[in-house]
Amino acid sequence: METKKRTYSDLINQTKALLQHEFDLVANMSNMVSLIFEKVPGLNGTTFYRWKNDELILGPFQGRVACMHIPANKGVCGHVAVTKKSEIVPDVHQFPGHIACDARSRSEIVVPVFWPGTNRFFGVLDLDSPYLNHFDVMDRNYLEQLAPLVFGNQGLLS
Ligand code: SME
Repeated sequence: METKKRTYSDLINQTKALLQHEFDLVANMSNMVSLIFEKVPGLNGTTFYRWKNDELILGPFQGRVACMHIPANKGVCGHVAVTKKSEIVPDVHQFPGHIACDARSRSEIVVPVFWPGTNRFFGVLDLDSPYLNHFDVMDRNYLEQLAPLVFGNQGLLS
């Protein structure tokens, strides 16, 4: 538990330091998924999807080739695009309509991301693990703090 807190608090500090002065979203999403993939143990994928023309479109990611278009309400990411609430999926095979981009994935967490200072939906951050039940409420709380840092200083202020 302490190790996980330490991992995320270091990750948040490193992310702030790296992204705060950069406003290019592709650059920031790219480095954020890279940092998460490197620092959070037990992942096989870390992916940004952006909300564009009423669907999710693949953004910067780490891991195997991923689905490029996800309609609203399809799979875990599409579900979060509708509910706008984080979803922890302990066993992806039990989630109706789960999209298996990488057959190794067994559990998943998806958090919604909003444009800074608004409730306008930007997209989702999706973490996949080859282990069952890999994510918990602590992951969710930290990832919800981490994701808005993708907007640089604007994310820090909101
Ligand atoms: N498993 C996700 C699709 C995205 S990939 O895992 C990168 C889902 O069901 O929404």
